[in-house]
Amino acid sequence: MLEIKNITMAVDDHGENKEILKGINIKFEPGKLYGITGPNGGGKTSLAKVIMGIYKPTEGHIYFDGEDITDLSITERARRGIAYAFQQPPRFKGLTVQDLLKIAKPDIDNNLLRKTLRDVGLCPEDYLERDLDASLSGGEIKRIEIAQVLVRNAKLSIFDEPEAGVDLWTIQKLIHIIMSNYKNNDKAIAIIITHNENVLPVCDEIILIKDGVVAAEGRPDEIWPLICDDIECKKRQECRGEMIYEIK
Ligand SMILES: Nc1ncnc2c1ncn2[C@@H]1O[C@H](COP(=O)(O)OP(=O)(O)OP(=O)(O)O)[C@@H](O)[C@H]1O
Ligand SMILES: [Mg+2]
Repeated sequence: MLEIKNITMAVDDHGENKEILKGINIKFEPGKLYGITGPNGGGKTSLAKVIMGIYKPTEGHIYFDGEDITDLSITERARRGIAYAFQQPPRFKGLTVQDLLKIAKPDIDNNLLRKTLRDVGLCPEDYLERDLDASLSGGEIKRIEIAQVLVRNAKLSIFDEPEAGVDLWTIQKLIHIIMSNYKNNDKAIAIIITHNENVLPVCDEIILIKDGVVAAEGRPDEIWPLICDDIECKKRQECRGEMIYEIK
């Protein structure tokens, strides 16, 4: 169980104290797939970074499996089983795809390494030795980032907009992979930060984050109408509460 208790986070924005997260309370239970959504700049990535230990909260606590991890480093959190796939993955000149996956899971066997790359739509023959530099396309680096979280098979995996920059065919495949890895796995928690109308309906719960607060939380059929109300959607009346996508 991951428990976010009264988390507030502020940054120094050109000498001004800018509050980004304002008293966030959420409980994430194992065995569930959570979707976090909301308008640009609402605080979704900041919350993920607070959970991963990249940003320090100014107030509040984070508990993971009963332990207060608020003051733990990124490495210590990773050791406890927290994995994060960046919205904008960093590039590392001089490091290959294979190196990255082996850092993510040092005891990984060759078959799993190759299978995971294939799962995210990359041919191992073409990509294992590729440098993680600027020569990789936006979609390729995004898929590699997702692969490095998948190989870890962590207790808590956070995917920050996994669909961003990824072509439609691969999005469908990624949804299947994330779902088959995490749905009905009663020990793992998966959190997908997304705006994607195909991904949100397959989550067990959706959390809507807006202006640094949890604006709503509930099942997709409860939250979808609120999202529709929030955006300028001409078809609002017709699609209200409609589940757009069904995984077979
Ligand atoms: N280190 C920082 N310094 C200053 N402002 C920041 C910092 N990190 C985040 N912000 C601001 O905090 C707000 C929330 O950013 P965040 O990246 O969490 O939004 P988001 O909900 O993930 O948005 P998006 O949907 O566009 O990815 C934004 O206004 C952003 O500019
Ligand atoms: Mg973001």
